[in-house]
Amino acid sequence: MPGNYQLSVDTLVDEVGDALSLGIRSFILFGIPTHKDPVGATALEEEGIVQQALRTLKQTYGDRALLITDECFCEYTDHGHCGVLSERTGRLDLDNDATLPNLAAQCVSHARAGADIVAPSGMLDGMVGAIRTGLDTAGFNHVPIVSYAVKYASGFYGPFRDAAESPPQFGDRTTYQMDPANAEEAIREAELDIAEGADVLMVKPALSYLDIIRRVKDRFGVPVAAYNVSGEFAMVKAAAAKGWIDEKRVALEILTSIKRAGADMILTYHAKDVAEWLG
Ligand code: PBG
Ligand code: ZN
Repeated sequence: MPGNYQLSVDTLVDEVGDALSLGIRSFILFGIPTHKDPVGATALEEEGIVQQALRTLKQTYGDRALLITDECFCEYTDHGHCGVLSERTGRLDLDNDATLPNLAAQCVSHARAGADIVAPSGMLDGMVGAIRTGLDTAGFNHVPIVSYAVKYASGFYGPFRDAAESPPQFGDRTTYQMDPANAEEAIREAELDIAEGADVLMVKPALSYLDIIRRVKDRFGVPVAAYNVSGEFAMVKAAAAKGWIDEKRVALEILTSIKRAGADMILTYHAKDVAEWLG
């Protein structure tokens, strides 16, 4: 995607420095390991790419940078699914319960390396509870969980999957991501995550789900985050590059609509542009 790159740890330090000087204070880290396997073992290593990045950023910027980590295995598994697989259901598919301890271990490892907030994005059943217990047991009671509570199986993730080299190698994610036609399920998923200890609820994608952001905000009153995903960003960039829309005007209008719908925080690839425009 225009303006978005895979970074090494040293180029990441410069990137975060630039963003900090523009007034951006929060960052979410996604890891792309050199080696993938069926379990995603590199996600848990002390010398894993995200762990290294966290330590270096904390050493360089301390608490000036709030570091959030995306917690999932799809970037680390060779099959591209969000955890370990099994044939328990008769066909090869994600094994929800077998993945939970790995997810908790990934979060603890990131917290130890300096993550301020963990954000599990796989939408597995029971993930928030498993992570909360894991973090508390390891002494990280103070690390909040932003749960991707409401995540739709969406075509808008296309550019991200290419960038993160994480498309599923077979099948799809519809067994754990939600049907775009279903609004009620969003409420039930959010309810479960709150009961398990989620501190912030994330709705994803944002633009085609403004009604869901509003419902979740009204219903629960907890902080709501919205993820303005790669495909939403790419549409704006592509149309602007063709001269068909005014990028600044449209991007700000979209972000305003997400805010108006009830989002307390917005995760967006437009962040640096917006910080400059509004600077
Ligand atoms: C996977 C994950 C996805 C995104 C971030 N983490 C979606 C997916 O591939 O299912 C998408 C983000 C974007 O499109 O910007 N856990
Ligand atoms: Zn995933």
